[in-house]
Amino acid sequence: MLRERIGEIRELTDLPGVQARFAMKACPATKVLREMAGAGIWIDAVSGNEVLRALHAGHAAGMEPPVICFTADVFRDNALEVVLEYGVLPNIGSPGMIDELARAGYRGKVSLRINPGFGHGHVNSCDTGGPSSKHGIWHADAGEAAERAAAAGMTVVMLHAHIGSGPQFEELLENLGRLAELFAGMVPLFPGLEAVSLGGGIPHNYRDAGAKVPLGRLKELFGKAQARLSEAAGRAVRVEIEPGRYYVAPTCTLVTRVTDVKRTQTNEKGAGAVFAMVDAGFVDLVRPAMYGSWHGISVVGRESGGETEAVVVAGPLCESGDVFTRDDAELIQPRELPKLAAGDLLAIRDAGAYGYAMSSNYNSIGKAPQLWLEPDGSVTQISRRETLEDILKAETEERV
Ligand SMILES: Cc1ncc(COP(=O)(O)O)c(C=O)c1O
Repeated sequence: MLRERIGEIRELTDLPGVQARFAMKACPATKVLREMAGAGIWIDAVSGNEVLRALHAGHAAGMEPPVICFTADVFRDNALEVVLEYGVLPNIGSPGMIDELARAGYRGKVSLRINPGFGHGHVNSCDTGGPSSKHGIWHADAGEAAERAAAAGMTVVMLHAHIGSGPQFEELLENLGRLAELFAGMVPLFPGLEAVSLGGGIPHNYRDAGAKVPLGRLKELFGKAQARLSEAAGRAVRVEIEPGRYYVAPTCTLVTRVTDVKRTQTNEKGAGAVFAMVDAGFVDLVRPAMYGSWHGISVVGRESGGETEAVVVAGPLCESGDVFTRDDAELIQPRELPKLAAGDLLAIRDAGAYGYAMSSNYNSIGKAPQLWLEPDGSVTQISRRETLEDILKAETEERV
């Protein structure tokens, strides 16, 4: 499935002057990064360590071409060192970061992440453009940032924005067209411009696994945007995209075991519910708990037929919100599933994007293992279960 999705994005970007990246934050496993490298997909990394992971997986350092772009809201930890040592393209999200780069001794190419003033996330808390978004340099401040960069000996070679997928595909298309126009208008401010990134945000339909995104319409838009921007610049300008979720969302299933089924009764506070307790929690997949995301759930071996019941699927963590069946209002929403009993295995679908990548060590459980399935049926463990020793490893009693 991963290779199929990579193939779709390659086809989508099979146009002169259009390049695809993978926003690796969605799923940074080395095995996945190697598939991307093999397919000629470049990388969008968001931390110094993500850059190092991409290099470890075989992606090239340097800027000729800029295979790894480092998009940062804030430089922290090893970020500046990594930029200086490996020459990856810094894509900066606030004007003061130009000074930080300069103080660190950096001179050369930079990319500016712009907040275009519009955009729409899949939920409000994921909005990546507009006055309420923390991301990027406000579009009206781009000229000032250009002057600041020039004064510091840096050339702005890329303008970048990520406007989110929005709840509707039409809205995404409209916003991408609007973004390309905004960037075309900014071209005169940036004589060294080589590329424009229209970000990620190609949606995945979590509710309907068979639904197809009309990628042909996006391809047409990217082709037109490349021509429009090149015309505005008077030379060829590369158009980039950097989806994350689209490549990986459907490629991973979180498998969990039902440990018990219990009930609460209706009283003056609300309706009673059936709870299927499972051994996975938001430490393994946080999206439902964090923003009410919907994930398909099936019972292994009982995909069709049989008696059903509306159940709340809840995990082992000491948090009331450790529930996989939530909705946009972030409340529990019982799901009609085959009648469950202890021992049943549940498959929680579409866990490939922002799943393991966002997993945590809350409650000191340790991260779950990741298994890799090849089409011939062979399975490899690509990361093992984390142990208590792994969790304790970083603890010290060093005086500072
Ligand atoms: C800068 C940037 N690029 C790409 C992405 C990937 O978005 P998606 O996984 O929705 O394609 C994000 C997501 O937040 C982002 O912030």
